[in-house]
Amino acid sequence: MKSYFIAGTDTGVGKTTITAAIAASLRKRNIDVGVMKPVATGLAQKTGFKSQDVALLHDAAQVNDDEKTINPVFLPLPTSPYDASKILNMKIDMSIVFERYRYLVKSHQMVLVEGIGGIMTPITRDFFVADMIKQMNLETIVVTRSTLGTINHTVLTIELCKKYQIPVKGLIINYFDEKGGPAERNSPSTLHEVTGLPILGIIPFVKDYQKFEVMANVVEKNMDMNVFIS
Ligand SMILES: Nc1ncnc2c1ncn2[C@@H]1O[C@H](COP(=O)(O)OP(=O)(O)O)[C@@H](O)[C@H]1O
Ligand SMILES: [Mg+2]
Repeated sequence: MKSYFIAGTDTGVGKTTITAAIAASLRKRNIDVGVMKPVATGLAQKTGFKSQDVALLHDAAQVNDDEKTINPVFLPLPTSPYDASKILNMKIDMSIVFERYRYLVKSHQMVLVEGIGGIMTPITRDFFVADMIKQMNLETIVVTRSTLGTINHTVLTIELCKKYQIPVKGLIINYFDEKGGPAERNSPSTLHEVTGLPILGIIPFVKDYQKFEVMANVVEKNMDMNVFIS
């Protein structure tokens, strides 16, 4: 089965929410899906995994991999990895990321790798998320908002993927407003027209959802799960 990189047009677009939901849904179908968040930043949680994203992905996929494998690089500051590394005077070692990635790909039927921020988020001074995707040699799915401004962000992301020769499977449109509410239901056809990419799913806003299981059901109903299964 194929592994995928789940990228976003920005931070907060729903990458973790949707990746966790897809992982939970695949696990229900007895698919051994691994998850990875190669680089995470943010305030460290006091219990469990340092990164909230990692905790959610781990629980949704029900994997036994340890924190260092799922998330080899964690910087405890809510900034880009490059900024965090400068401020905290920490060096980011990408070789460990690729080593753990190769291990995960070997030990699961497929792996879903969540990005950080957008595709041009710097990890080091001259190494961006796009460079990481390229090196992992993964086909990418782009999660995008539906709100005003998304066409520009989406086109920029896709053009960059073309420049890097990163294959993009399609878009997942998340009807989630960056202010935390439901977004307007704009027509997704323009995003398809301007990018030429298939729309793999249109995910509605789910008010007050607490559990990834709830989101898994929503994603199953609103997404073509054959993308992952076939
Ligand atoms: N469809 C949705 N309905 C309701 N809340 C959502 C939806 N998508 C994302 N969210 C919420 O938005 C916030 C940001 O989503 P997240 O998945 O963490 O984004 P990213 O991983 O791209 O930074 C989270 O609090 C998440 O629960
Ligand atoms: Mg996330």
